[in-house]
Amino acid sequence: MKDDNFLREMNARHLWHPMGHPGEQQANAPKIIKSAAGVRITDIDGHDPVDAVGGLWCVNLGYSNDVVKQAISDQLWQLPYYSAFAGSTNPAAIEASYAVQEFFAEDGMTRVFFTSGGSDSVDTALRMARQYHRLRGEPTRTKFLSLKKGYHGTHWGGASVNGNNRFRITYEPLLPGCFHLPSPYTYRNPFGETNGALLAQKIAAAMVDEIEFQDPSTIAAFIMEPIQGAGGVIVPDASFMKHMREICDRYGILMISDEVITGFGRTGDWTGARHWGVQPDMMTIAKGITSGYFPVGGVVLGDKVAEVFEKAGPEGNIWTGYTYSAHPVGAAAVVACLSETLRLDTKNNAAVRGAQLYEGVKKLAEKYDIIGDVRGGHGLMMGIELVSDREKKTPMDAATMKRVHQATYEAGAMVRLGAHNILMSPPLVISEAEIDVILSSLDAGFAAA
Ligand SMILES: Cc1ncc(COP(=O)(O)O)c(C=O)c1O
Repeated sequence: MKDDNFLREMNARHLWHPMGHPGEQQANAPKIIKSAAGVRITDIDGHDPVDAVGGLWCVNLGYSNDVVKQAISDQLWQLPYYSAFAGSTNPAAIEASYAVQEFFAEDGMTRVFFTSGGSDSVDTALRMARQYHRLRGEPTRTKFLSLKKGYHGTHWGGASVNGNNRFRITYEPLLPGCFHLPSPYTYRNPFGETNGALLAQKIAAAMVDEIEFQDPSTIAAFIMEPIQGAGGVIVPDASFMKHMREICDRYGILMISDEVITGFGRTGDWTGARHWGVQPDMMTIAKGITSGYFPVGGVVLGDKVAEVFEKAGPEGNIWTGYTYSAHPVGAAAVVACLSETLRLDTKNNAAVRGAQLYEGVKKLAEKYDIIGDVRGGHGLMMGIELVSDREKKTPMDAATMKRVHQATYEAGAMVRLGAHNILMSPPLVISEAEIDVILSSLDAGFAAA
């Protein structure tokens, strides 16, 4: 490894960072994270904050899970790679598929298609939805519905159903036939509705209206996150996903629950759909499936969809897949990670520590006027929306957001910025004392605004 001077000198010089401006990253060099242990990361200058981001909503088991590390290492020596394209497989992939279907059995999921991450999973699920309807003799069902504020990755399909225009406009035109409904976001919505249950009803009515307008026979699937993550941690009313499920059933539309963040315990339940008492037709998964230790994602499907493919003629062939689908090392990571996730019962800690974080941030909102909206209380996902004027709900400017971020970091917690929101998704193994560190660091951060 080169020395620290080299790293500082070359930082962002040759590496373009995702979701960043290459020139800006050169002018304001990114933090160099050199190591991590437990729920703390250590940067090149020796800061070791609690990682309230969990890497990127993914390091659910923290950074020191030796069981997962050992499984990855062992598999590298046993079989570092072999293709899983039709005709060959590997033992770890078979074992991982069994573990995944066991994990999702209560959601009604019985099959898995592995990918390399969340964006792959979303694109695959959208393709499978279209193919499902073709196989059933309804090839006109090609359109997709989704929610504004939703984030579904950055492949063309995922970006097309994405509900934040900053991920869309630069790359338009996107996929035709994608339509967006209002987000269940009580703080700001086109109905001026602050009651979550009433807002859910209004969005349900808008959905019916859109489906009737498009004609149900043209719509393949509706995709949603059970709790919108990157869009600002938008927690819908408990009735919302049930309304969406009922409407999908009424019109023969497949429901895809994008569980890339909400899967594997983050909401305080093993899946976001289970948290709301809904069974989707497909789920997209990634992140917590390996705690971020190896890039793996997947689409999980229930019998209703799976059997249509399995009983079809040659047209049931799946014409998509990735070199690293069912990668043996990734699969070994999945097996170990799921077993550790269940052993540690991370969902329960997420529920309890999530409540502590939520209550703590609500107290901070009494102290600081710049806190416009506090969203969380369902596991370890938190969004804090900052405003420069509480009455007018004026979004906080970028310079102040950066100042808050840096002061919070220096006081002991890494948080994430999403426009004028502070987003948090710490490891699910976090302790009470470590949540207190996040809260006191935020306090210092807001004081510096
Ligand atoms: C809900 C959701 N879907 C899809 C994705 C895309 O996943 P990836 O970044 O692994 O491609 C993300 C990433 O944050 C996500 O939050």
